[in-house]
Amino acid sequence: MMKIVFAAAEAAPFFKTGGLADVVGSLPKALLRDGVSVDVFLPLHGSIRLEHREMLTYLGATSVHLGWRIQHVGIFETTVDGIHYYFIDNEFYFRRPNLYGEGDDGERYIYFSKAVLAALKWLDLHPDILHTHDWHTAAINVLVDYYAKYDSFYSDIKTVYTIHNLAYQGVFDPYCLGDLLNLPEEEYFHEEGLKFYDNINLMKGGIIYSDHVTTVSKSYAEEIKYPFFGENLDGIIRRHEGKLTGIVNGIDYEIYNPETDVHIPVHYTASNFSRKHENKMHLQIKFGLPVDPSVPMLAIVSRLADMKGMDLLAHIFEELVQENIQFVILGTGQSRYEDMFRYFQYRYPNKVAARIYFNQAESHEIYAGADIFVMPSLFEPCGLSQLIALRYGTVPVVRQIGGLKDTVLPYNQYTGEGNGFGFVNYNAHELLFTIKEALAKYRDPNVWPYLIEHAMLADHSWKKSSLAYLDIYKKLLGRPDASK
Ligand code: GLC
Repeated sequence: MMKIVFAAAEAAPFFKTGGLADVVGSLPKALLRDGVSVDVFLPLHGSIRLEHREMLTYLGATSVHLGWRIQHVGIFETTVDGIHYYFIDNEFYFRRPNLYGEGDDGERYIYFSKAVLAALKWLDLHPDILHTHDWHTAAINVLVDYYAKYDSFYSDIKTVYTIHNLAYQGVFDPYCLGDLLNLPEEEYFHEEGLKFYDNINLMKGGIIYSDHVTTVSKSYAEEIKYPFFGENLDGIIRRHEGKLTGIVNGIDYEIYNPETDVHIPVHYTASNFSRKHENKMHLQIKFGLPVDPSVPMLAIVSRLADMKGMDLLAHIFEELVQENIQFVILGTGQSRYEDMFRYFQYRYPNKVAARIYFNQAESHEIYAGADIFVMPSLFEPCGLSQLIALRYGTVPVVRQIGGLKDTVLPYNQYTGEGNGFGFVNYNAHELLFTIKEALAKYRDPNVWPYLIEHAMLADHSWKKSSLAYLDIYKKLLGRPDASK
């Protein structure tokens, strides 16, 4: 059986700050259904919940050299739904409330990368494929490239690297190269290596030294070849495009299922959603909005950040709330946008409910209760919220870029096709116009129910995408039927 090992900084349900955790939490389960065994390595972050901490078994410890120091590598294990999770324990680096944003992030994740490789050896767990995600674990792929030259344990491991967001690259002082990574400068510190201006760039290393690179949608895989989306790495992406594949993310269809979801008051299906609006009424009561099922409810569940297109909303919100609508917001982020939504709630208490925090259960209630989901991102590698919205028949209005373009099909009034609405240019009034178009269709009983149905029937489970990953693994191993 093919042996795959994932390493990442976060995975649901243990730790989650964003979409990375959802993907690392759900893709291994889909691969397992395809007959592939996946083990997942994570840091043992201090924020682990007690219920999860209690599930862990201590296996033992090894150590790694980090510059002149020797650092402890504790190894814990647990198995959930057939997936083995290994947790790397080092309280100095990871017993902290936040996953990122610490002054020594470079050192922490380089430590983690080395620790994963040491733990594999200690466990005598030899993967066919080591699959890492985003800059935090990119050093693993670089180190495998180097270790393979003198240590046969690593020499036949193939590496895959997935870019979830090219905007976060892990750029650090070049002393990391010699002192922490212990890589020879002449071999790795140059323009076709880790060097990035006068620093080292781990994302760049992940791209260059991996056997294969993927990103989370076909469109994003194209976009990052150009300067606008390329985040100063478009040249490197273009030089390595031969080993780059875009594979769209799926979502966990068991967790997100309006037929069984424990967080929502009223269940419904694609063939019978006549009671979906009761979820809206429940939300109206909960959020202190006037209870009226006929008023269209728009929703945002998002990090409130520039990347998510929040400044477009800032420009048009005042005009938009003059319509007969309700608008609910759930999420945290830049204080500028948090304050903006608080202000609109204060000014329009009968129309706007701003929930400036994140709560998983409440997010499900919003996905089920709202009518229209707004996601006008500046760039979006894949985006998962629009997939969840589709699954719950909450019609998305999106900017047609990246994964949003690949997953939301704008309504075509001539053919009746489509499951949402889209606009192309990063322009506030295009967004406003598109929302108004959606509102007009909301009132048209010949259109709206079909949009809900199309949205709910679109298949964004992992089924197809996990096979696309499997295909890459098989090709790298030169074993066309390796999963059998
Ligand atoms: C990042 C991207 C998002 C993607 C997620 C999972 O959060 O910004 O678009 O869906 O990773 O791949």
